[in-house]
Amino acid sequence: MTSFFLEDETATRALGARLARTAPGQSVVYLHGDLGAGKSTLARAWLRELGVTGTVRSPTYTLVERYPLATGGEALHLDLYRIGDAGELEFLGLDDARGALWLVEWPDRGAAALPPADLHVRLALDGEGRSAVLAAGSGSGEAWLRRVEEVGELHRISEPNP
Ligand SMILES: Nc1ncnc2c1ncn2[C@@H]1O[C@H](COP(=O)(O)OP(=O)(O)OP(=O)(O)O)[C@@H](O)[C@H]1O
Ligand SMILES: [Mg+2]
Repeated sequence: MTSFFLEDETATRALGARLARTAPGQSVVYLHGDLGAGKSTLARAWLRELGVTGTVRSPTYTLVERYPLATGGEALHLDLYRIGDAGELEFLGLDDARGALWLVEWPDRGAAALPPADLHVRLALDGEGRSAVLAAGSGSGEAWLRRVEEVGELHRISEPNP
């Protein structure tokens, strides 16, 4: 587990870009946090870092937005806040996703219908900024976290738990 203090929106975007640069070829990321915690800000910066240039819409009503990537894969940005039940995910036709990357806001609402997370990002309000707690969900997530911990420009607020 690794924690960061994100003092402003720029810091949230920097974390998104750093996660994009260090991510393994295929990854599933759950973005946890209350309304306004910064999940979409992080996701947008992540997609920009991967070369997505057009509008990055919040998938608030569509549940998912899909972006082809220059690498040949695809990024899926999901926001499950308004999903009726987890079964709705099956109707989105994501099984065929050459899912290089899944960025999932409100993942608890999709529960068992989602692929398991490689990385959990937990964002929360912290004074005028935000805290970010990163936890691996898989072996590839563990290795990824070690790469992220080499980060220099972000202020680390706590040591990884032993
Ligand atoms: N580190 C930060 N410090 C202060 N404000 C921030 C920080 N990161 C993001 N914000 C601001 O928080 C607001 C909400 O961000 P965002 O829309 O990304 O939240 P969200 O978690 O996606 O919310 P929702 O659950 O409603 O989709 C934005 O105005 C954004 O600029
Ligand atoms: Mg959002």
